[in-house]
Amino acid sequence: MKILTYPNPKLKRKAEAVKAFNKELAKIAKEMFQFMYKLNGVGLAATQIGLPYCLAVVNPTRQPAGEIVLINPRFTKTGPGTVNEDEGCLSVPGLSARVKRFANVTCEYQNLKGEKVVLEARELLARILQHEIDHLNGILFIDRLSEDERKLLLNRGSQKAKDEISPS
Ligand code: CO
Repeated sequence: MKILTYPNPKLKRKAEAVKAFNKELAKIAKEMFQFMYKLNGVGLAATQIGLPYCLAVVNPTRQPAGEIVLINPRFTKTGPGTVNEDEGCLSVPGLSARVKRFANVTCEYQNLKGEKVVLEARELLARILQHEIDHLNGILFIDRLSEDERKLLLNRGSQKAKDEISPS
């Protein structure tokens, strides 16, 4: 498994709905959790590893009980309220920025058995869900910034990369 990073065009692909809830899917989800833990992430979308499935794994707690496999997720309710907080992404390494997100969301998705699940989330989990579902729609957190903010952040990123290559 390999993480795709910005500006890989595959990160802009919209995921395809999952129709087959089989052992293969469960195996992919399990491997995605392992990979996500290795990278110290709290969420990982299939889009980020180059798979076209509408599938993401999430775990804000890092405990086994906190594992959520989101398949074909969508929001049925967003709000009330918004929050501006720092956000980063495994596909945009080393950079973070304040991103405005809904404070509360209700998400409907399918689990690995294909059963419908309704999840009400707030705070960190609400933010992770919005971030991961964005990935499945081909959207990165930097796409949620204003053009000026994005340019500033990416310039800072390329300067940082240069400094790392040629220390002086
Ligand atoms: Co991300």
